[in-house]
Amino acid sequence: MSRAPETTGLKGKRRKTRGRQERLIHQRSRDYVWLDLKTGREFDVPVGAVVKLCDSRQIQVLDDEGKEHWISPQNTNIKPMHPTSVHGVEDMIRLGDLNEAGILRNLLIRYNERVIYTNCGGKTYTGSILVAVNPYQLLPIYTPDQIRLYTNRKIGELPPHIFAIADNCYFNMQRNNKDQCCIISGESGAGKTESTKLILQFLAAISGQHSWIEQQVLEATPILEAFGNAKTIRNDNSSRFGKYIDIHFNKRGAIEGAKIEQYLLEKSRVCRQAPDERNYHVFYCILKGMAPEMKIKLGLGLASDYSYLTMGKCTACDGRTI
Ligand SMILES: Nc1ncnc2c1ncn2[C@@H]1O[C@H](COP(=O)(O)OP(=O)(O)OP(=O)(O)O)[C@@H](O)[C@H]1O
Ligand SMILES: [Mg+2]
Repeated sequence: MSRAPETTGLKGKRRKTRGRQERLIHQRSRDYVWLDLKTGREFDVPVGAVVKLCDSRQIQVLDDEGKEHWISPQNTNIKPMHPTSVHGVEDMIRLGDLNEAGILRNLLIRYNERVIYTNCGGKTYTGSILVAVNPYQLLPIYTPDQIRLYTNRKIGELPPHIFAIADNCYFNMQRNNKDQCCIISGESGAGKTESTKLILQFLAAISGQHSWIEQQVLEATPILEAFGNAKTIRNDNSSRFGKYIDIHFNKRGAIEGAKIEQYLLEKSRVCRQAPDERNYHVFYCILKGMAPEMKIKLGLGLASDYSYLTMGKCTACDGRTI
């Protein structure tokens, strides 16, 4: 692991005060610092800040959340920031302050510039690690041009992207004739399902002759989602199951088939939903989309007629037609 040399605009020296060592830091305005506010809250980490004013008695800083603080120069809760953390880096292995605060600030700076992907260790022995931050808006970064741009490139050659990971997997499989695996993890609503679909889309686009099998693999997703996804308070399209997708390629690198294994479906949701949550999408889809004659024949009504579909006191789902 290589680190950028420790260089900073801040000058520090130590002095002994009543038997303990105290760090004196001479800030200049526009220097960047870490401010440990020690709020005692969960997930408490130092926050980045920029020095606005300073004299021998007080330093005024503005933190990344826009809050101002006045601090004494003797305060040990303020530390110089490594230059790599000031404007952010594409690969977090290059961070001089490689700790939780450094990682979070790096993601925040990039996110503020609408850059949602960041590498973490570039190409390591174990593989490539990509961190994605959910933008909750459609960014113009998944176009056919972007697919072409990321095809057959080395990791790190272009800015971090989910397509770079998919491309790397595909070409490693072809070059080394070995199976590849992508693990996508994150909390509910982080963007795992969307990332999976983007990888599938990329693979389908670059894997040569387009066939109906490939089309079927892509089109199976909404159907599987109807049966396994539901609106929760964290995600309108939350997957309530784990999924393992095995994609098979032929010798020429074209998609030949896929096996989708599902496990741990949240069965309790079928007969019980928490407030503001829904049952599986499929029930609402059927009741909304079925032809009236068929509904009469089957004795079906509206979603609002069934207690199994209304326990969460919510039958509609923003952003979905059904
Ligand atoms: N790359 C992206 N670009 C734009 N919007 C996104 C992206 N990733 C996620 N989203 C948005 O965030 C929502 C939640 O994402 P997603 O369903 O993929 O989360 P998840 O990690 O699968 O959550 P769960 O564990 O609940 O299934 C999506 O419906 C979409 O609106
Ligand atoms: Mg999901």
